[in-house]
Amino acid sequence: MSADKETILTIENVTKRFPVAEGCMLTACDDVSLSLYQGETLGVVGESGCGKSTLVKLIMQLHTPTSGAICYRGEDLTKLTGESMRQSRRHIQMVFQDPSQAFNPKMKIKDILCEPLRNFKLVKDRNAGKKAEELLRMVELPEEFVDR
Ligand SMILES: Nc1ncnc2c1ncn2[C@@H]1O[C@H](COP(=O)(O)OP(=O)(O)O)[C@@H](O)[C@H]1O
Ligand SMILES: [Mg+2]
Repeated sequence: MSADKETILTIENVTKRFPVAEGCMLTACDDVSLSLYQGETLGVVGESGCGKSTLVKLIMQLHTPTSGAICYRGEDLTKLTGESMRQSRRHIQMVFQDPSQAFNPKMKIKDILCEPLRNFKLVKDRNAGKKAEELLRMVELPEEFVDR
């Protein structure tokens, strides 16, 4: 499709089965293949329960596929373990459908925004407030939200 564009993500024959009651298996994703190219947006459409969220959780490494490969810039994410898996998580982000469940109501906005940066030592504690303000400005939200 996009011969001149870099391939960002390739999903090759991915199947995910969940064990359910009485020794039965439920096939949530069945032999899924797709490619995502640089600069493009890809929508996955289907009826409720057809496996869209499971596919995304597989890409996020929140589930392990039963079979198949998920390659980010040529590297098979399903083969990563330990520190290499942790580092790979920097490059793929999920925007959850329901922000009231995705955000921890006990944490301040600046702590939520800076937690992943702290995790990868990309911001020092003393600079976290400024960094959070900068991130809010980028999406045109008021800086004073940092302490909410
Ligand atoms: N952790 C799980 N254990 C067992 N079955 C699951 C699990 N997660 C999803 N499923 C089942 O997999 C199928 C696909 O679900 P899902 O990926 O959430 O679909 P969609 O996002 O397209 O609505 C559904 O039948 C769902 O009940
Ligand atoms: Mg879903």
